[in-house]
Amino acid sequence: MLMNTTTIHLAGLGCVGQGLYDLIQRRPEAGFAINRIAVKNPDKIRRAADAPLGFRPEFLFEGGAPDVIVEAIDDADTAYQMAIQALESGIPLVSANKKMLALYLSDLLALQQRTGTPLLYEAAVCGAIPILRTLSDHYSSDRIQRIEAIVNGTTNFILTQQRQHNLSYVDALGKAQELGFAESDPTNDVEGFDAAFKTILLAWQAFGVILSLDDIPRWGITTLGTADAAFAAQQGGRIRLVATLLPVGEQLVSTVLPTLVGSMHPLYGVELEGNAVALELEAAGKHVLSGPGAGAFPTASALLADLHRLRDGYRYPTPLGKTPLKKAVLNEIGLPVRLRAPEGLVEVLIPRRDRQGLTPADEDSALEGVLSLHSILRFGQDLRKAGVSLLALGAPQSLLAEEQPLLQHVSV
Ligand SMILES: NC(=O)c1ccc[n+]([C@@H]2O[C@H](COP(=O)([O-])OP(=O)(O)OC[C@H]3O[C@@H](n4cnc5c(N)ncnc54)[C@H](OP(=O)(O)O)[C@@H]3O)[C@@H](O)[C@H]2O)c1
Repeated sequence: MLMNTTTIHLAGLGCVGQGLYDLIQRRPEAGFAINRIAVKNPDKIRRAADAPLGFRPEFLFEGGAPDVIVEAIDDADTAYQMAIQALESGIPLVSANKKMLALYLSDLLALQQRTGTPLLYEAAVCGAIPILRTLSDHYSSDRIQRIEAIVNGTTNFILTQQRQHNLSYVDALGKAQELGFAESDPTNDVEGFDAAFKTILLAWQAFGVILSLDDIPRWGITTLGTADAAFAAQQGGRIRLVATLLPVGEQLVSTVLPTLVGSMHPLYGVELEGNAVALELEAAGKHVLSGPGAGAFPTASALLADLHRLRDGYRYPTPLGKTPLKKAVLNEIGLPVRLRAPEGLVEVLIPRRDRQGLTPADEDSALEGVLSLHSILRFGQDLRKAGVSLLALGAPQSLLAEEQPLLQHVSV
C-alpha cells in the first residue's frame, strides 16, 4: 500500500530542528517531507538542509498549507504567535517548546478547543521519555498518587559532578558548560525555571490542573555547595533537583526543589544528564520511566512519535473524569527542609511567625524543620541571593492535619 507523504513546515534548525531534519532524511520510508524551514539568522552557516529557508515566521504559512507545522525554536513569544496562526489556520502543531507551552497553556488549550486543531508536545517534557501520552492515555484510568521527577538533565549533570568530584557549584557548572551540557547563560536550567515549565505540563497532563509559575515553590541549585553534598552523603543520600506533584487532600501540591533522596528512592541512581519520572498509582503501583531527557535525536524521536500519532488522528484527551483537584493553598502546606545559611541570616530574612517550625541542626550553620510552601515562595529569592541553600527532606504535608511527625524523611 502506498502511503501519502505528510508535508511539514519546520520552525527552527538548531539542535532539535536539525535532529528532526536528519531523522526524517534517514527514514524516507516513514513518508514525511520537510518542505519549508523558518529560522532567524540569515548569516548562519547551515549544515545540510535542502528545503527552502526563510527568515521570518510568516514564511511557515506561505507556499500552501502543510499537513503539520513543527515548532522547535528558542523564542517563546514568537513560538506562541506561530502556534496561534497555525491553530487558527487549522494546521496541526507539534512543539518542543516547554516555555511557550507552559506560559500560554490555558490560552493554547482554549484555542485548540475552539479550532478543533490538534497540538501535541511530547518532546517538551523529558525528551525521549514518553511521559505525556502515558499520563494522558494509559494512566488516566488510575489515580495518580505522586509524581517525583528529574526533568532537567543540566542540573542533574552538575549535581553529579559536584558529588563525584567534590566540586563547588561554580566549578561543576564550568565543567558542564565545557562539555556542552549547560548553556553560556544557564539561568533557565540552574534556577529551576525549565523544570517548573515542565512541571506545569505534567500537572495538566496528569491532573488536569493548570498551574502558573507562581503556584510552584521553586529553588534552583546555585546555592548548593560541598557542605550540602557532604551532608547528603552522611545521610546515605544524594541531592536531586526534583519536580514533585502530590495530591494532598483535594489540593495539588507542586514544587521544584533540591531534594535529599535515599538509596532506596527511584531517583537515587539517575546520574549525569539522565531524566526519570517516578510515579505512584493507586492500582498500578510504582513505576519509573527513565532515559535521555534532551539532545538532538532523543528529542527528535519524540517529535517524530507525535507526527506518527497525528497521522492516526490522535489528540490529547481533555483530562476530564480525573479526580478534581484544586491548586494548593501554599500556606496550608508545609515541607520538611534543611536550610544552610550563615548564622543569624535566616532569622533576619524570615519573620518569626513564619519560621517557628525551624530549629538549629546539630552541627553546621543549618536549620531543620517544617517550613510552609508559602514561605519558600515568598522569602526564597532573598534567601537565595544571600547564598542560603535549601534541601527538601521529605514530602509536602498538610499543616492543618494534627500530630504530624516533624521530619518524615519519606523521600530519603
Ligand atoms: N535541546 C534540547 O535537547 C531540547 C529538548 C527538549 C526541548 N527543547 C526545546 O526545543 C526548542 C529548540 O531548542 P534547541 O536546543 O534546538 O535550540 P537552539 O539549538 O538554540 O536552536 C534554536 C533555533 O530556533 C531558531 N529561532 C530562534 N528564534 C527564532 C525566530 N524568532 N524565528 C525563527 N526561528 C527562530 C534559531 O534560528 P537560527 O538558527 O537562525 O539561530 C535556531 O535554529 C526550545 O524551545 C527548547 O526548549 C530542546
